[in-house]
Amino acid sequence: MRLYVNIDHIATVRQARMTDEPDPVRAAVLAELGGADGLTVHLREDRRHIQDRDVDLLMETARTPINLEVAASEDMITLACAWRPAQVTLVPEKREEVTTEGGLALGAESQRGPLAEAIHRLQDVGIRTSLFIDPDEAAIHVSADLGVEAVELHTGEFANTAGAARVAQLARLADAAALARSCGLAAHAGHGLTYQNVAPVAAIPELEELNIGHSIISRAVFVGLERAVSEMAHILRRERPS
Ligand code: PXP
Repeated sequence: MRLYVNIDHIATVRQARMTDEPDPVRAAVLAELGGADGLTVHLREDRRHIQDRDVDLLMETARTPINLEVAASEDMITLACAWRPAQVTLVPEKREEVTTEGGLALGAESQRGPLAEAIHRLQDVGIRTSLFIDPDEAAIHVSADLGVEAVELHTGEFANTAGAARVAQLARLADAAALARSCGLAAHAGHGLTYQNVAPVAAIPELEELNIGHSIISRAVFVGLERAVSEMAHILRRERPS
């Protein structure tokens, strides 16, 4: 189980003042020292947090793999192909959303066409590809047909429910992870995971990577980033001793 730490939220604080601190590139060093296996950054089309300069510098300085999240637009795929991060996760993007609200819509040919083209361009330059999808059977089959290496299962509904509804969402994630694996896809997950809710998700044996941001950065405000990351890494190791 790999822990990828999403450092967008550091850039969000910086952009609130349009200044040069806190710097997500410096944060990346602390995340790595705390035990992050990789770093996730989402370059949004409106550049509301991560900037091109951040990705430039991270590509040069990070010691762990970069998972770049982008929409499957022409401009973003051109940038990604130039940067060549280890992995690109294609995500849906709406300007008005506060954060990514759901998985990619894969139902119509008009939605799958641009994704197929983006995946092809990324794979052509050696980038591992992943699709951020809802944990649904149909989305997994379409992802497998599109030829990606991995899917990231959206854990938002799991995170936003409680009691019996959460138990049902956990089962949905476990089924989706198992189906993804049986289709030959690596299974990742993320969104809304916290120190309080992550354990049962981390325990799903077919999952191999979690992307976690907001909860870690929130704790880091109080305990520091290195410690916040190492406390999350500890939970993952407890659930999945290697
Ligand atoms: N995975 C994806 C695709 C995301 O868009 C986000 C949010 O930026 C995350 C994971 C991490 O979510 P959170 O910040 O809620 O941990």
